[in-house]
Amino acid sequence: MTTTLIDRIGLLVRNVDDDGLPDELPDAAVVVEDGRIAWLGRAANAPAADERIHADGRCGIPGFVDSHTHLVFAGDRSAEFEARMAGRAYTAGGIRTTVAATRAATDERLLARATALVAEARRQGTTTVEIKSGYGLTVEDEARALRLAATLTPETTLLGAHVVPPEYADDPDAYVDLVVGPMLTACAPHARWIDVFCDRGAFTVAQAERILAAGRDAGLGLRLHAAQLAPSPAVRLGVELGAASVDHCTHLEPEDVDALAGSGTVATLLPGAEFSTRSPYPDARRLLDAGVTVALASDCNPGSSFTTSMPFCIAVAVRDMGMTPREALRAATSGGAAALQRDDIGVLRVGARADLVLLDAPSYIHLAYRPGVPLVHRVLTA
Ligand code: NIG
Ligand code: FE
Repeated sequence: MTTTLIDRIGLLVRNVDDDGLPDELPDAAVVVEDGRIAWLGRAANAPAADERIHADGRCGIPGFVDSHTHLVFAGDRSAEFEARMAGRAYTAGGIRTTVAATRAATDERLLARATALVAEARRQGTTTVEIKSGYGLTVEDEARALRLAATLTPETTLLGAHVVPPEYADDPDAYVDLVVGPMLTACAPHARWIDVFCDRGAFTVAQAERILAAGRDAGLGLRLHAAQLAPSPAVRLGVELGAASVDHCTHLEPEDVDALAGSGTVATLLPGAEFSTRSPYPDARRLLDAGVTVALASDCNPGSSFTTSMPFCIAVAVRDMGMTPREALRAATSGGAAALQRDDIGVLRVGARADLVLLDAPSYIHLAYRPGVPLVHRVLTA
């Protein structure tokens, strides 16, 4: 098995402080074997390896873990964005535009688009991506989206409960029956997670509870879109059901923060959505000060957040959400890993996946300090 030494890393940021080495290790080196980290430490102590990559003093960080995306879709909603920037409000109903285009697209077109977006994310340092369905909203179209997504990532999520499709407009509960019945049966083999958009204009808390309970009974892990557009008891529902993550968390009541703080549920913040809908950002500081585990993710979707860029999310989180650069980097790496209940990614330690990004910068602070600049020099992945 070939070994590769990544040598002369000016600063290696690891999200690990229990192995006798500093979390932020200067003058570092990493040895990779079979996609895993076989050794890491001071460059001066590095063992010999078959191949060598010179980092030339660059900063090394764990690959970004983007734990929330909607990458299987067709169509374009740039006109909706333009109208929003002119003052129109964002509503959940815009999702139906993408549903119509997605249903009409071939498998080849959907997969080509999703593959291109995963590649775009990779160029910006993302080494793990979660992908949701949610723009099909029929048994066949949701199963197809998940089948395609599963060719790109093991982190696939059934979001059949994104909005009520037009054909069920008069009887939303009949659509929920479809989701918890035939749709779940057809989709569960292709999904690791189930999610519900529980918010104004989408699904109620009672409907979300029914859908999540059915997903759990089918062996899926739980996640939830909650409190994006309005405060909602959905955040506490997610905590009570033991969801891995409650996502958006923009409009939180004090009880929501307390519930999250006393739980194993991650609060995933999606600043691209507030940016692109010109809405107030979530208060990350309040969550961090309460002891909540916070993740940052892109929410990449054609309606509310058409970006794959985790560095962009970090820059906004630092500029406008009260996070330090270190907290934002942690949220975009080990925070995302926690939101996916993974311990092999988002950290750089012996045995972890060798998902490592070299930045054209001496420090991770530059991710926020130099917004919009392509700082990713090289992405190594297992
Ligand atoms: O996470 N909130 C629900 N779903 C997406 C928006 C999808 C859309 O507008 O197409 C989101 O922001
Ligand atoms: Fe989303």
